[in-house]
Amino acid sequence: MHTKEWRIFASIIMLALTLFGVFLLLDIQALQGQIDDKKTNEALAGRDYIVMIGEVDDHAYWNLVRDGAESYAKNHQMYVQYLGPENPDPEQQRELLRKAMDIKPDGIIVQSVTGSFIPLINQAMNEGIPVVTVDSDQPDSNRISYVGTDNYAMGVAMAEDVLANVDQIEAGIITGTATNHHHQLRVAGIKDTLTSDKSANIVSTAVSNIKRINAREKTYQMLQRYPEINVLFGISALDVIGIVEAMEALNRDDIYVVGFDTLTENMQLLSDEKVATLVSQQPYQMGVKSMDVMRSIINGDNVEALIHTDSRLVKDVHHP
Ligand code: BGC
Repeated sequence: MHTKEWRIFASIIMLALTLFGVFLLLDIQALQGQIDDKKTNEALAGRDYIVMIGEVDDHAYWNLVRDGAESYAKNHQMYVQYLGPENPDPEQQRELLRKAMDIKPDGIIVQSVTGSFIPLINQAMNEGIPVVTVDSDQPDSNRISYVGTDNYAMGVAMAEDVLANVDQIEAGIITGTATNHHHQLRVAGIKDTLTSDKSANIVSTAVSNIKRINAREKTYQMLQRYPEINVLFGISALDVIGIVEAMEALNRDDIYVVGFDTLTENMQLLSDEKVATLVSQQPYQMGVKSMDVMRSIINGDNVEALIHTDSRLVKDVHHP
């Protein structure tokens, strides 16, 4: 053979070897996938496999929801996998929901923050995967049940507390998000109730993205711009901490603060009289109850469409 022919021959051999290598790799991966599936099935040992998708992976509030679900799973021969984005991001939550649907678990429990979750929830239901919403609902979807706080009612309760304790209300609102269904309900409850008092004003609203540092920053800016504010509402769990930090930085101790969640740090602020009123939610109970509802659904039992976990105003640390 001439040199040129040798080169062509060698190239063909190289190409064939490369293709063979690629096929081998794909085959190994496919095999690995089967092994993983098998491993998962073995690990499940017949237990129902539930995927729970929260707002974030690691967060004082969501860790309680996860712990409640895991403890229920342990006691009832079930397996729950908790998933959430590193930072709050509905698009990433939807991506986790899509991935969960691919795995075809026995059920999905999801915090459903906006209407954009509805098509995915309906798709899962059409594919035979039961869906329960937790903490934030999408009542217009085909989800079977919602487990969580009656958010509108608690917004109303917060505003009633303020009306009973403050004259000439000039209020600021720090909310977790402007778009999440449950936050919107809380704010709507506040606004609808405050309008009953003609002299009450909502001066400004800002978004913390459920982060304490943002709550602090946004409150600081708000108070500098609107020093007349005498009431601050904190709509998500870490907002009151940021609110109080900003008030301290500005030497303001004349503001009536009412906010969501009785997490340990918030209760300390209540005890120190830096916060007047907290709204208690039951994140651990939400985890337990949503799993319980899912178990009933899997067993073919009827369940309620709305399951409100306990929530109330807390003014005394000794009576949380
Ligand atoms: C809300 C959760 C949110 C948490 C964040 C709670 O009040 O119910 O949805 O993730 O606050 O701080």
